[in-house]
Amino acid sequence: MEVIIKSDAQTGSIAAARVVARLVREKPNAVLGLATGSTPLTLYKELIRLHREDGLDFSAVTTFNLDEYIGLEKEHPQSYYTFMWENLFSQINIQPEKVHLPDGMTQDVPASCAVYEREIINAGGIDLQVLGIGSDGHIGFNEPTSSFASRTRIKTLTQQTVADNARFFDGDEAKVPHHCITMGIGTIMDARMNLMLAFGTGKAEAIAATIEGPVASMMPASILQHHPAAKVFIDEAAASALKLFDYYRWVYDGKPDWQKDA
Ligand code: PGA
Repeated sequence: MEVIIKSDAQTGSIAAARVVARLVREKPNAVLGLATGSTPLTLYKELIRLHREDGLDFSAVTTFNLDEYIGLEKEHPQSYYTFMWENLFSQINIQPEKVHLPDGMTQDVPASCAVYEREIINAGGIDLQVLGIGSDGHIGFNEPTSSFASRTRIKTLTQQTVADNARFFDGDEAKVPHHCITMGIGTIMDARMNLMLAFGTGKAEAIAATIEGPVASMMPASILQHHPAAKVFIDEAAASALKLFDYYRWVYDGKPDWQKDA
């Protein structure tokens, strides 16, 4: 795992955006795995800026989102479909038919999940997956004890995740759906690169356990220790519980420039 500690969320997000932009320039038909939540917002703003000011071209890019709530219409203000169109897709030149999110209103969840997995394979697999991390260590909505072999499927959110996400639902936990469809940990591990972002002290314990703790299904993100190309962009607050904080800084500062954002 490559640990990149930046002073704040802004510089961390811009550094992560450079990795995404480099891929899209090198492979215009790249397949991106995307995430929702507060964490990737600045990354998406930077991609939009690069599109507008530097001509970053998304016209051949395909996307697959990690997850979606079950029971929210696409048009619901808190659906991840709405989130992605508001915060990214409507502001770049992506082709709507190349955008994929799990269908939270499907009548046949297992069949719909199987189709999603097949669509990822048919697209050539995910080149780069953007990940946030839950305060309980989830990636996508793969809550603690999710199987490391899991594929896209239904999951039940933990009470902690329901509480964390209530801020998007007028602070009312009763309005947060309890079920979702999420890519599995196996699906995420198949991505050629995983790019995790985490900012703020609320993520410090989960980040320390992910990077330095044992690989365990109680901390789903820790599986990234087994991924051959996982980069973790964090700010100093999210890095504050890392035992080897100084070492990660030392490694990064000692890199040749060409390797820093590769
Ligand atoms: P957040 O969520 O970015 O809103 O903190 C991250 C996650 O739950 O994966």
